[in-house]
This record gives sequence, C-alpha cells and structure tokens, in this order.
Amino acid sequence: MSTPINAAWDRLRQLPQNTLLSLFEDDARVKKLSGRIDWEGEDGASGILLDWSKTHLDEALLDGFEELADACDFTGKRAALFSGDRINVTEGRAAEHTAQRGFGAETSVEEAAALHARMRLLVEAIHQGAMGEVKHLIHIGIGGSALGPALAVDALTRDLALVDVHVVSNIDGLALEQAFAACDPATTLVAVASKTFTTIETMTNAASALDWLGENGVFDPGGRVVALTANPDKAVEWGVDETRILPFPESVGGRYSLWSSIGFPIALAVGWDEFAAMLDGAAVVDEHFATSEGRENLCLRAAFADQYYARLRGCDTRAVFAYDERLALFPSYLQQLEMESNGKSVLVDGSPAEDATAPITWGGVGTDGQHAVFQLLHQGTHLVPVDFIASIAPGDELDAAHHRILLANCFAQGAALMAGGNMSDDGKDPARAFPGDRPSATILCDDLDATTLGALIAFHEHRTFANAMLMGINPFDQFGVELGKRMANQVEAGGGNFDASTQALLDNAGLA
Ligand code: F6P
Repeated sequence: MSTPINAAWDRLRQLPQNTLLSLFEDDARVKKLSGRIDWEGEDGASGILLDWSKTHLDEALLDGFEELADACDFTGKRAALFSGDRINVTEGRAAEHTAQRGFGAETSVEEAAALHARMRLLVEAIHQGAMGEVKHLIHIGIGGSALGPALAVDALTRDLALVDVHVVSNIDGLALEQAFAACDPATTLVAVASKTFTTIETMTNAASALDWLGENGVFDPGGRVVALTANPDKAVEWGVDETRILPFPESVGGRYSLWSSIGFPIALAVGWDEFAAMLDGAAVVDEHFATSEGRENLCLRAAFADQYYARLRGCDTRAVFAYDERLALFPSYLQQLEMESNGKSVLVDGSPAEDATAPITWGGVGTDGQHAVFQLLHQGTHLVPVDFIASIAPGDELDAAHHRILLANCFAQGAALMAGGNMSDDGKDPARAFPGDRPSATILCDDLDATTLGALIAFHEHRTFANAMLMGINPFDQFGVELGKRMANQVEAGGGNFDASTQALLDNAGLA
C-alpha cells in the first residue's frame, strides 16, 4: 500500500550509497555531522560531543530521513510523549520518565517532585543514622529495576561510596550468596525494587535476604527493608512498613525507571546532590530533544543512522564500546533499553512490521574488545555500525599514559574501520586486507560525572524513542517476556504440557 511513510522509505532506498572516504571530500563534513549538548555545571561548562561524521549519513539521506520523520508525524509523537498522552497504547498508559526530570504534564512533574522529596528525606535520614549504622545495601531487583542502578552505582562510586551497594538480580542463589559474603548483616539494609512487586526472582531473593538477616542476629529483619515500587499495596501486603515504601508512578516504564525511586541505591551510594545532578543531565537532553528539529536534533539524527544501517544496509547488530571502565555496564543497560523497547514484530496499529526492527545491541569496553572481538568488526562479513564512548578527563589518577593510550586506541579504531587498507608488504595479501568503509559514531564526553551519565542515558532513551517512531512501533510495552514466564510458572506449579524435548529436560533435572 502506498502511504507517505512507505513512499519516504522508497525514496530512501533509491538513494546512492557513497563511501565514507568520498563523503569526507566535503571539508565541512565533521562540522555538519558533529554536534554538542552542553550545560553549565558546578565546576563550569561541560558537555558531550556527538560525532556522527564517520557514518554514511549525507545530505540526501538526511533530507530523506527528515521527510520520513515528517511522514511519521515525529513532532506530534514527541509532543505526545512530553504531554503525558497515553502513547503506550497496548497498555493504555503514558510514558512519563521525563516528568521525573521536570519535563512533562504539570501534574506528573509535581507528583515526581513530591516523590523525590520523600525519597530524599529517607536517603538523608539514613545517611544521618536514622536506621542505625548502615554500611551496606543489598539492592534486589531485575531488568529495569536493576540495570540502571547497577550501571550508575558502578560508574559513580569508583572513588567513594557513602554506602556499599550490591545489586542482585539473578534468581541463581549464587548471586545473593556473593552479596551476603560481602556484607555485615548488622549494618546492611535491603532494598526490594520491583515496579509490580510480583516478579518471582525479586520476591524470592527478597525473602532469602530477610532469612539471612534473621539467621545472622538481626532482631527485626523486616525493619531493614525499603521497598521501591509502583505497587505500594503489594509491598504493604508483603510486610514493608509504609514509611519505608518509596512509590513511583505506574506511567514510568521499568527500563526507564532509574530516575524514580528505583534510583534509591544510587542516591544512597553517592548522595542526593549527585543523584540530582544525574536528573539535571537528563533534563538538558530532554530540552534538546524537545526543542531541536530535524537533523539538528542529535537523538533523532542518531536514529536516522540507526535506521539507515538496520533497514537500508541490512545490519542485524550494532556494537557499543565504552573506552572507560566506569561504563563497563553501559552495553548491558542499553541492551534492555533498546531490545526490550524496539524488538517488536508489530506496528502500533497491530499490523506486521514488514522490515527489520531493533538490531541486536552488543558491546563491551575498549581496549579489551580490540583483543577479542574487533577482528570481526574489521574483517568479518557482517557490517556492524559501532558507537565509541569516551571521556576526555580521565577517571584514574595513574600516569597520564594510561588515559592517553586509551583515547588514542579509541580514535584509532574508528579511523581504521573507515580507512581500511592492506597490512602486507606488497599490499596484496587478502588475509591482511581491511575492506574499510565501516561506520562508527563517537560520543566524547568532557568528563564522566553524574550529570554526564544522566545526559548519556537520556540521549539513548530519546534515540530509542526516535527509532521507534520512525519504525511505527510502540517502544513502551514488552509482551515478549511473558510467554516464557508463564511456562516457568507452569513448571513450578507442577503442571503444563510441554514438547518432548522440554519434557525430557525436566525429567533429567528431576523437575517433572
Ligand atoms: O520481564 C521483563 C520486565 O517486566 C522488565 O520490563 C522489568 O524491568 C523487569 O521485568 C522487572 O519488573 P519489576 O520491576 O516489576 O520487578
């Protein structure tokens, strides 16, 4: 069927494919395809440089994608996101994570501020000793209730943590045992983080954590629990005192929830001001995303490149390599954000998606990846667009050589992927040939502080949303996780009618 959206895609498909090196014949390319998001922090001006010049985006593609964005009513959809409209149509709710950062419907912003004030009171009371000496927090949650806190705590507590936080997600008891081994029960609090307060892994781990406290001399284990949830009634039913329940609104999606009370372990570990700095960093990006148009909108521009590689070049995956140990968990955080949001096969109206949706997000840290998986990036048969993320200011205090070599390697990888060449003496050995013309984007932060981390995460949230709007899918539901959960429950309940292979596995493990 010919619709303005299909027509825009058809025009995009017919555009010529230029090589990266030919695109760099334009002297102004770096300027045109790079942009900054800046802010004034406590320590002066800071920001992030987003360099998309080593992608194949050119004027014609940018024009074409802007036409596509218009055909998709990107501006209207973005307005609906920020107004608190029920854009998560399959679940009949809004997606109001930006209200947590001060952008959204007035009532939602006010509600978020009130809930933050309540969370701040509890965090500061704990810091001041209201719950006795607190040295450790075992934060129990999974998916969006764990990945954001784990990332932020890991990124921001390399120098100092006010409280030692252990994020436990897996139902495998080894994960919880490892946290127990690192904590003194007498000075440990337990945060139970679950939007629904029904997730089996979280509730089972929480019960075991309470047992551990009780078995190790803690008089009132229930009194050491803080609940972070959008379902406070369930938390009360489970036995948490209302004074230690930090609610958040139902309209904040799980994978978008670290800004809400799910961020409690972050605030406890780094202090309220640092948590607030993360919110501020995200708000800077909200402002940019809400007010910049077309290619000038850096989140939308990134989505143009994402769509180009996924749909016009058939890339099944995209890689993200952080050249910074503090962002070691960033790829796994992004995996949930991008794949749970956009890994769909139907459009918002329920019709089938006729083209690829979210690629597989994968990655790791540089330089480690260079000595393990970059072989495939340089010479493999798959075309993989890569994002490199780095910080100009070092996170370490060792000899400056460390950071210099780190950044040199990061920039060299992008250059080598693009340039290609042949490493043999005669320049003819096919085994030593690099095809080049392989795309990358570089996100270069001035520093990697709390504000920057907030901005980086919000940039990816909006990039994910922009991708969804260009594909016409709802990024805010996740029904794909339900069938497996139901079957696991059937096994647990001793029922279910399974295929012969699964039944044999159950028999082998004594679970039938
Ligand atoms: O199973 C997927 C999921 O629903 C995620 O979307 C969510 O972040 C995670 O489980 C945890 O859910 P909850 O916070 O309700 O425990």
